[in-house]
Formats: sequence, structure tokens, C-alpha cells
Amino acid sequence: MVRYSEDILDEIRNRIDIVALISEYVPLKKSGKGYKGLCPFHQEKTPSFMVDEQKQIFHCFGCGEGGNIYTFIMKIEKLNFPEAVKLLANKAGVQLPVYEKQNNKSIQEKELIFRLNGITADYYQKNLFSPQGKRALNYLLKRNFSEEIIKKFYLGYALPGFEHLVHFLTSKKIGQTDLFKAGLAFRSSKTGGTLDYFRDRIIFPIFNLQGKIIAFGGRVLDEKLPKYLNSPETPVYYKAKNLYGLFQAKQSIRQKNQVIIMEGYTDVLIAHQFGFDNAVASLGTALTGQQISLLKRFADEILIAFDSDSAGKSATLRSLGLVKKAGLAVKIVYLPPDSDPADIILQKGEPFFANLIKDALPLFDYKLKILLQQYNPASSQGKVNIVKELFSDLADIGSDIELHSEVKKIAERLHLTEDSILIDLNQYKKGNKQLSNILTNIPVESTHVNAEKILIGNMLQKRDVIERIISDLKVEDFTVPEHREIYSTIINLFNKGEKISLQKVMDEIAEPKITNLIPRIMIRDVVSLDSGTIERSINAIKIYKLQLELEKIKNKINEEEKRKKAVTAELLQEYQDLLYKIKTME
Ligand code: CTP
Ligand code: MN
Repeated sequence: MVRYSEDILDEIRNRIDIVALISEYVPLKKSGKGYKGLCPFHQEKTPSFMVDEQKQIFHCFGCGEGGNIYTFIMKIEKLNFPEAVKLLANKAGVQLPVYEKQNNKSIQEKELIFRLNGITADYYQKNLFSPQGKRALNYLLKRNFSEEIIKKFYLGYALPGFEHLVHFLTSKKIGQTDLFKAGLAFRSSKTGGTLDYFRDRIIFPIFNLQGKIIAFGGRVLDEKLPKYLNSPETPVYYKAKNLYGLFQAKQSIRQKNQVIIMEGYTDVLIAHQFGFDNAVASLGTALTGQQISLLKRFADEILIAFDSDSAGKSATLRSLGLVKKAGLAVKIVYLPPDSDPADIILQKGEPFFANLIKDALPLFDYKLKILLQQYNPASSQGKVNIVKELFSDLADIGSDIELHSEVKKIAERLHLTEDSILIDLNQYKKGNKQLSNILTNIPVESTHVNAEKILIGNMLQKRDVIERIISDLKVEDFTVPEHREIYSTIINLFNKGEKISLQKVMDEIAEPKITNLIPRIMIRDVVSLDSGTIERSINAIKIYKLQLELEKIKNKINEEEKRKKAVTAELLQEYQDLLYKIKTME
């Protein structure tokens, strides 16, 4: 008879929800933690047939029938097991292997690897608590791992040297080929000898859901590279399919209906040690679809708590799309720059980390936050870059309410109008990625503020421009209060006939908030010292002043219109004049 592998059966199970499946045969109603309906396997008037979504099983309290998706289909469709698998595989879109006669050979091979891994893990753990393992144990204790957590995760130690494990296992009559199969040893290319895969490393066994050891990770005790070495893939270990710590965490994940995904072994250990025992690790990579469908069986909410270095951030972003596609609620735990969960818990304490979890950010807010750090939101180019990166997410949002609330957030943070964003988003969806509305709507004020800086920067370096500027601009024409202060100091010194220099002005003002600003203007903001720049800057400040006046008049006109008064001709004339004046200056 055909036997399908556990992997295939799992894959199908991951893709088919038992509630949806049974609902095709029996009307179900939510009841408490599960679903209830009339049992299809015996006659009844009041429902005693229960479906448990989390555990993905059903049970009838009336007739005692029960099982999982496979047994349900076998019973209701009167099929044998392989036939039921075929039906469900079809439904799930899972391709069944053409002749997967899970022959005894491959089952035996898997069992063998499990057995070797078990013996090996015992051996490594014994090393850790032996005199030869003192250095390793001290290392772990120094890093604050408790003995309890070391045991819960069954940590061990691979001794320095090349043949400890090989000797130990061969003394137990285990053949060398089997060691290679399990990835515990390799053949030396030089001598042809059989050598230990792990040497002088802390060992982290990786368990499958049933608690069998499928692989190992090994960490050096110092700064040597590679920091981690992991078992090669074997018939029982596919990296993309497993999550470190899931076996230890699954109970808690179910109870909390939430899983926290971290990057590293050490993160998971420290998290569990301090009570965050619904933590698992993706082991340094972005999440895979298979890992997500595995987690889906245990919880509805996923929190991502990857390292906050740039690799972690990009892994976070890569994982997010997939999680969302799987229909799970996902949030991101925002960690302080360049840290990982283990650092944070140890340095700042568990209440701090608990708060980070509580304040986990939805996908969009997280992205916005990262982008605001990555680009300068004060510059037009920065704004454009940020918006561009968010558009593909915005384009995916189905609900208008949600779209507007996200657009509002961007508009507020970037000082843009919601309309300009929405207009450009529509263009973007049609394939036009220019963002021309946003660009034209970036507030002009940045130009005049910039002009103020340029003028100050020039005056502090070239005495001969001061007179020219003073003759044209009053202190009040500068809009930034700090700029006004600097400008008025310059005017005072100038009028007293004193020397004007950078240092002198800073001494004169002696107020940190302003004196800090001066070097910034000089070093970062002032680009050009030519006379054309001075004229353009004076002009920009004057234009801005006129625009403010124009704005005032516009408001007055609007007021009058609102009150249904005839707008006075005078006001309109004033408006026209101003508008004309601005046009000629621009
Ligand atoms: N990793 C790996 N191989 C490496 C480096 C990292 O497989 N050469 C994986 C490991 O699973 C590791 C995870 O990526 O746990 C995260 O890497 P990193 O943050 O560098 O390690 P930590 O787990 O934080 O370890 P430690 O606290 O000891 O620095
Ligand atoms: Mn880390």
C-alpha cells in the first residue's frame, strides 16, 4: 500500500482548515473556543459534534466519532486513507509524489538519524557538564543562561579535537556511512579520515514538533568565524521547514494564540528564560512560506522580533509580505537600533521587552518608521523616496477606510497633502511613477528657510554682503526664530562697526540652541557663496513674505464668501496685484 510521508501529510494539513472543510458537509456555528454542529455520523436533534480549530480535530460527544481532516474525509466520503489523502491533496493544490511508496528503507533511514541524533545530543550534554566542558558551561553562565534553560533546550558541548564524537559513536557499533548520513561527521579531503562535524562549539539541538532531534547548531566560544555552524540538510532536516524552539514553545503559543519570531538561538533561550515562552527562531533568515503555514496551526497572531541591524530589518520586510498573504495578523516588535531581543531583555529587563511587545507596530507603521530613519523627511527627495517605497503597499490595500488612514499618517509625517498623495497613488497604479503631484505640492517654505540659512552663512564669512542684505531685509523677514536672533546680532555688530566673524557671533549669542545651529548652517547647509545666490535668496524670502500676505487675503475672501457677502472690489484688487507681483518675481 502507498504510504505518504509525514511531510506531505503535514503540508496538506497546513493548507486545509478543518472548520472550512467540515463546513462543506455540516453547517457549523461558533461555540466557545470551537465550532458546533449536528453530527453527520449519527442522527441527532441537538448538536453534539464539535470542531476544534486550533487543534484541527473534530469530536462527537453523541456517537464518539472523531479525528482529523483525513479521518473525517475517509468517514464521510467512505474512502481509504490514500484515497482521502489524494482528495485533500487535490483540494489543497499539493502535488503528490507519483510513486511515493514511502518504502521501508527511507523510513528506516529517518529513524536511524533520529536515533543517532538522540545519542549524540546526550553525549554533547554530558560533555557540557563534565570537567572538560567547564569552559563552555562557564561561557553560557556568563552570558546569563540559567541551568534550567540549558536543560530545557538540551544544550551541549562538542569538545575540541577531530574525532571525539566519531570515536564515541563507532564504539557503539555505528557505521561511518551512517555518521555521514546524519551529518555528524565528514570525510577529510586530505587524509580520507572521518572527522567530527562540530568541534569546540556550544551545541544547540534542533527538535521537530514531536520532540525528536533533527539537527544541531554549534556556536564558537569566542569571536572566531563562522560564529555558527549548522548541520547540513539530511532526510529529516530541511532548514526552510523548521523553527528553532517550536517544540518547547508550542503549548504556550497555542495558549497565547500568538507567536514571537526571533532570529537567533540565544534570543529564544533568553526569551523563554524570562517568560516569553512563545518565542521561536527562524535561524537567521527571512521566514519561509512553509514556516508560516506551520505556525498557522498554532496561532492567529505573529510578532516579528528580528535583530534591528540592517540584515534583520531587511529580513523583517521580506517576511512581512508572506505572513500577510497567509492571512495572519502580523506586527513588528520595534527594537532599539543594532540590538537583538536577547540583548534587550538582559540589558533593559523583561518589563521593557514586554512593553515593546505590547507596542508592536502594524506592518505599515513599521515601514514608515524605518523609512523615516532611512531618508531625510525634510528634503523633497527624501519625501519622494519614502512615498515611493510605500506605494506598493498602499496599492494593495482593499479598504478605503484603511487606505485613508494610512495616507493620513504619511501626509502628517511628511507635511504633504493627502490629496497629492492620493492623486499620485492613482497614477502609480496606472503605471506612472513620477509622483508629480507630490513634487509640486511640497511646501515652498523649505525654499525660504533654506534662503535664510544661505544668507546667514554668507554674512558670517563675507563682510561685504552684509550691507546689501541689511538694506533689503528686516529682522522680521526671517521666519525661523533662531535665524532672526542671529541676523539681529549681525546687524547690531555691523551698526557698531565691529568685526563680524563666526566665533564673534557665537560668543555674542552664547545660547546653546543657537550656537549649535551656526556650525550646522556653515558646514551642511551653505553651499554657494556667489552673488547670484544672494540675490536669489533675498528674492525667495521676499516672495515668501508676499505669499503669506496673499494667503491672508485669500482667507478674508473665503470668509466673505462663506458669509454670503459680496467680496469687496478692493480686496479682489489687492489679491490680483499681489499675485501679479509674485509672478514677476519668481
Ligand atoms: N546564523 C547562522 N550562521 C552564522 C551566523 C548566524 O546560522 N554564521 C544564524 C544562527 O541561527 C543565529 C542567527 O543566525 O542564531 C542570528 O545570528 P546572530 O544574531 O549573529 O547570532 P545570535 O543568535 O544573536 O548569537 P549571539 O547572541 O551569540 O551573538
Ligand atoms: Mn542576534
